[in-house]
Amino acid sequence: MQFFVDTAEIEDIKKLNDMGLLDGVTTNPSLIAKSGRQFKEVIKEICAIVPGPVSAEVASTEYDGMIAEGHVLAKLADNVVVKVPLTVDGLRATKTFSKEGIKTNVTLCFSPNQALLAAKVGATYISPFLGRLDDINLDGVELIEQIRQIYDNYNFTTQILSASIRSANHVTQVALAGSDVATIPPSVIYKLADHPLTKSGLEQFVKDWKGTGQSIL
Ligand code: E4P
Repeated sequence: MQFFVDTAEIEDIKKLNDMGLLDGVTTNPSLIAKSGRQFKEVIKEICAIVPGPVSAEVASTEYDGMIAEGHVLAKLADNVVVKVPLTVDGLRATKTFSKEGIKTNVTLCFSPNQALLAAKVGATYISPFLGRLDDINLDGVELIEQIRQIYDNYNFTTQILSASIRSANHVTQVALAGSDVATIPPSVIYKLADHPLTKSGLEQFVKDWKGTGQSIL
């Protein structure tokens, strides 16, 4: 499973990229607003750091506006993926971008039928939002499993990009469900390395090693 980081914060992106953990980046209008920075400037900066796909979302909700904005975003860097909402206009725009060879990430997916439509119009990625479904007492992981089955049934090449991930457990669950990609907030990526037995085991090894009085160097 590929790891994307879900943030527009440059310092986190640099740190995770240097650790060799990043396959790509996703942003959305809320994350850009949180960064307090100019959208196009941040996207160009992220694309220069991470060679993998970087999702940049259109602001327009109408087809013509999405197409105009998508063309601007796609020219910012070779690795930009144009993020489009899962609406009728968004699906139409996805089809146009697909014909033009522009990669797309269809976002705000909450049902298997929405994912089926995105695949049929040639989306590069579909972004089902797990956490927001869990928030309203629905099963986000089940959605990933259903999309996996539908895409495999018909050999769709659209990649499942599990989004709105809120916990380390979500990462395990979407990996088990066969998600192609997970986009994960930086705080959750750091937590993936944690285990209390690793911590206590290492403390014991350090203590016992000191007791030997030896040095490797
Ligand atoms: C990523 O593409 C999504 O915009 C993001 O994962 C949404 O996460 P949230 O539901 O925590 O805002």
